Amino acid sequence: MNFFKSIAFRISISIAVIIAATATAVGWLILSDEKKTLELELRSKGSYLAELISRQITEPLLYEERYEIFSLLQASMKGEESLVVYAEVYDKDGEKVVSTYKDGISPEKLPSILVPGTTNIKEDSKAQLYHIGIPISVENLGTIGYLKLGITKKHLYIILQNIKKKIFLISAGVIFIGTMMGLWMARKILRPILILNKGVKKIGDGEVGVEVPIVGVGEIKELALSFNRMSIKLKELIDAIKAAQENLVRTEKLYAIGEFSAGVAHEIKNPLTSIKMLMQTIKHKKHPLSAKDFGIIEGEVNRIDNIVKEFLAFARPEKIEKTGVNINGVLEEVITVTRPQIERTQIHLVEKLSPSLPLINGSHDALKQAFLNLVLNAVQAMDGGGTLNIGTAADNGTLSVVIKDTGVGIPKKYLKKVFDPFFTTKEEGTGMGLALTYNIINDHSGKIEIDSTPGMGTTVKVQLPLIKM
Ligand SMILES: Nc1ncnc2c1ncn2[C@@H]1O[C@H](COP(=O)(O)OP(=O)(O)O)[C@@H](O)[C@H]1O
Ligand SMILES: [Mg+2]
Repeated sequence: MNFFKSIAFRISISIAVIIAATATAVGWLILSDEKKTLELELRSKGSYLAELISRQITEPLLYEERYEIFSLLQASMKGEESLVVYAEVYDKDGEKVVSTYKDGISPEKLPSILVPGTTNIKEDSKAQLYHIGIPISVENLGTIGYLKLGITKKHLYIILQNIKKKIFLISAGVIFIGTMMGLWMARKILRPILILNKGVKKIGDGEVGVEVPIVGVGEIKELALSFNRMSIKLKELIDAIKAAQENLVRTEKLYAIGEFSAGVAHEIKNPLTSIKMLMQTIKHKKHPLSAKDFGIIEGEVNRIDNIVKEFLAFARPEKIEKTGVNINGVLEEVITVTRPQIERTQIHLVEKLSPSLPLINGSHDALKQAFLNLVLNAVQAMDGGGTLNIGTAADNGTLSVVIKDTGVGIPKKYLKKVFDPFFTTKEEGTGMGLALTYNIINDHSGKIEIDSTPGMGTTVKVQLPLIKM
């Protein structure tokens, strides 16, 4: 995700803006306050200076010692630090007696501010000056003249400039630290959300039941807990749906039994018809049954017998008596029975039976029937030879049997149907083998899965629960 689009970044930017605004407002307040104080200070300093100088020049003014006055004024303006930028002395009629100016001050532009009997201060913001006019009085004689001073505000502005700089530096520091802290806090707050996000993604990918670690506090912790509850509920729900689906499949199978009778009748009809036709021909030709005829009849009768047997096994399964069953033993028996067929078709048999297989609770005969069906299907699928793998294993309370062939395989569209009664692709098949096997495994609380690739082969995996010790 783009960092600049992240919530963390936005939060820290907001924090930075808030801090910047606050810093500006506070800075402005401090500055204007400070400016007022400094101005007040400067005014009183100016008045005091004017007072001082006026006293110094009273005597020289009385005796009209102009040069003395001039040097006194010059002294007050000496040096960089001096506040006075110009000084003028007037006699009592307002005639200029002595004056002196620093560079950049033009006498013509100075305002007239002399007021008899009182000190007058005038601010000149443009020239950054205070003009101060003060009457010079002597006891008994009254006003004998005036002093006019220019007090510069330059130093004040330099101080203010320094304060501004400091405020700016401090604000920048605070904004930087605030932004970093905002970022850090946002990350800390958002981390649990990012973890949650990962969990949600996992569920989106079908990994229901995942739980996220409970980090964070308050609402975010609540959210994580709710998420975990939801995830578990979701898993329960999906499991329930799966179970219901399996049940439905079973119900559908039971429904199929209804169709079953019709199927059986149809299956039996074929062999019966061929027997009947044979009988009629014999009756017509009036000659006794030949050995070949007997063979045909026997074959058809066997076929009927088989169909009826399978029908009975499926429709009215014998009551299963469950005892401890050794599945390896069952498989050995199945292999013994099918060995002639395996050898005839030149199938390579690979047995990998786990030597330490625990017993399972079940019916020996029913399981033998089930695995016989599976092995027969595998052998029949490998008409031109191949490899038949039979393996057993046990772990986690489950026993598994894998029967793997390298035969023709099952097309995908048939995979769903192979367990249906009467579904067969074989000319001589009854389609009952896998239906029966499914029921038997189901009766043992087991599972059966078929995985097949047409042209490559088929793997059937049966899982049965072990006896709990
Ligand atoms: N190992 C296998 N390899 C290929 N096809 C199989 C295999 N097992 C089952 N089948 C398919 O499933 C169908 C149903 O099998 P089953 O119920 O045993 O009936 P049948 O063997 O009488 O046909 C078979 O006709 C066949 O098409
Ligand atoms: Mg079969």
